Amino acid sequence: MSSNLPLDRLFEAAADVRVRAHAPYSGFFVGAALVDREGRIHVGCNVENAAYPEGTCAEAGAIAAMVAAGGREILAIAVVGGPAEGGEILCPPCGGCRQKIREFAVEGTSVHLREADGRVTSLAFADLLPHSFGPGHL
Ligand code: THU
Repeated sequence: MSSNLPLDRLFEAAADVRVRAHAPYSGFFVGAALVDREGRIHVGCNVENAAYPEGTCAEAGAIAAMVAAGGREILAIAVVGGPAEGGEILCPPCGGCRQKIREFAVEGTSVHLREADGRVTSLAFADLLPHSFGPGHL
């Protein structure tokens, strides 16, 4: 991880917010926690809607919280997700969330995914969205 924050704390924050997800339609609960340049943690959970396309992902919520707090750089983001009654399964950010993360990604931004058995998959964000379109194009 490209910050000094222990990964355990980031996963703890993601797991804590995951239980507050509003996911009555999919039954798939997701929590995301990111650390910004200032070392602050921002969290989000998925918020589904009866009008299905209006639902939002956990990552989007965490990004919105960061921006509202004045943060503009994501150093690392942890995502945990899975069926409500089940454990965590590997939950990589969806395509739309990859683009949302891209907006605030920096050199070395990392993405961390945890499964129920505690296994952690850590990825370089650049590998999740290669050849991406970003702020530098405009
Ligand atoms: N979901 C997220 O919150 N983040 C992702 O990156 C993948 C999917 C949510 C959206 C929806 O509420 C549920 O998981 C099932 O797709």
